[in-house]
Amino acid sequence: MQPEEERELVKAVVKVSRYTVYIALIAVACIAILVVSLFNNGAVSVAPSKANKSTSVSSVPAPSSPAVPAGITPKAMPPDAWKAPDESTIPAGKAGDMIRYGKELTTNTAKYLGPQGTVAQITNGMNCQNCHLAGGTKLFGNDYAGFIASYPKLSGRSGKVDSPADRLAECFDRSLAGKVPDTSKKEFQSILAYMKWVGKDVKKGQKLFGSATEKLSFMDHAADPVKGKVVFVMKCQSCHGGNGEGILAADKKTYRYPPLWGKHSYNDGAGMYRLTNLA
Ligand code: HEC
Ligand code: HEC
Repeated sequence: MQPEEERELVKAVVKVSRYTVYIALIAVACIAILVVSLFNNGAVSVAPSKANKSTSVSSVPAPSSPAVPAGITPKAMPPDAWKAPDESTIPAGKAGDMIRYGKELTTNTAKYLGPQGTVAQITNGMNCQNCHLAGGTKLFGNDYAGFIASYPKLSGRSGKVDSPADRLAECFDRSLAGKVPDTSKKEFQSILAYMKWVGKDVKKGQKLFGSATEKLSFMDHAADPVKGKVVFVMKCQSCHGGNGEGILAADKKTYRYPPLWGKHSYNDGAGMYRLTNLA
């Protein structure tokens, strides 16, 4: 090899190795950037971090197990707390059939009386059970335990003494934002029969633990719709829909998650509309 050629070769080798070093440096920089961004996005977490919890709308959250927020002490359940009567106490025959039908009507109201109801189309898309949980048998679930025993009752709304039938009619009128079924007909009478059965062991004036709705105290400031929206987006819309319109069930006639407002929900005369009740 001529010294001239040799020099050329050394030059070329130096050039190549310099490029290799540059490329290696760039690769190291890229890897470093990638690692940093992975840590920031939470794809790799060093310690469990609350901030990384997904608040994705598509995943329907399961109610987290101890559902009691910090700072709230759950009430101890007294041993004599009301329990709904056992289904086996529903008599056989016609009287029992009415109670069973009444239960069915309050749990699947929309199927029979909703906008596409099989018996009549006189109510919005809601079921009584949407607000009176487990057929109105659940403590702290707006149950029907004390209903029949506390009627007839002087109504704060109408100023007259209401019968149980008057009170039921109000729920059709306002909560179900619809028409009241003919009170002499099978449907209305069956619902009444079911209510009588649910509350059959409750005496007039009896104090009931966790019955009906817990009255919330009046707030000392105006309700804040802006803060409310934040809570709604985080905690409610996954089930009740982005506009509170609810989510229809597979049959497209009834709701899997009931609407919170709108034409298929309750009207502003309903108990649920009051801040002291629930929503
Ligand atoms: C949108 C929610 C909602 C729906 C749907 C609803 N209710 Fe109610 N209902 C309430 C609330 C809230 C109260 C308590 C009102 C109050 O205390 O001012 C109530 C009260 C009652 C009471 C009186 C209970 C008592 O102890 O005095 C009866 C009975 C009742 N509802 C029956 C029904 C029936 C039957 C249906 C279906 C046909 C129904 N409700 C649908 C929210 C609802
Ligand atoms: C995991 C799903 C889920 C989440 C989250 C959820 N709900 Fe509900 N909600 C339901 C279901 C289901 C019912 C009806 C209960 C039944 O029929 O047994 C209901 C009923 C209601 C009702 C009474 C019926 C009606 O349509 O008005 C109100 C009011 C309500 N929810 C408000 C809220 C609010 C406010 C939040 C957020 C703080 C919330 N819900 C979060 C599933 C959910």
